[in-house]
Amino acid sequence: MKNYQTIENCSIIDFPKIQDPRGNLSFLEANTHIPFDIKRAYWIYDVPGGEIRGGHAYSDLEECIIALSGSFDVVIDDGYNSKIISLNRSYFGIYVPPMIWRTIQNFSTNALCLILASKPYSEKLYIRSYDKYLLAQNKEK
Ligand code: TYD
Repeated sequence: MKNYQTIENCSIIDFPKIQDPRGNLSFLEANTHIPFDIKRAYWIYDVPGGEIRGGHAYSDLEECIIALSGSFDVVIDDGYNSKIISLNRSYFGIYVPPMIWRTIQNFSTNALCLILASKPYSEKLYIRSYDKYLLAQNKEK
């Protein structure tokens, strides 16, 4: 196996939750709760109703997607199978390895989507054409 990944390699991460009558607290640490060294964080917000974000794969980048507030659906696709994972709690995240086509959609009002990434931003890491993704994925298999 080279860099071939399937949606089975995506996983739900259950972050620690410290329940407190004053308000709950969750946290995460790189390499402990997140299976990579975090090099970048970005967040998506103010998404107008019906808009879709993502729609790409990364050739060599891992990420974790968290609904810090509100809800949205993450669609993961490996070219053979796809699955919709709904995120609506701030203490769950989805780990997405490289070479998974992913789309984020169905954002609720005020949804806040935090994404932790294993590398700094580089357009070179993106595969933005689904046809090119399928070709690359089949080559890796
Ligand atoms: P993109 O990753 O395509 O957004 P999404 O996958 O959520 O639809 O990024 C949109 C734009 O923002 C693109 O022009 C690149 C820029 N960008 C950065 O400059 N730095 C970053 O860390 C990210 C994620 C995007």
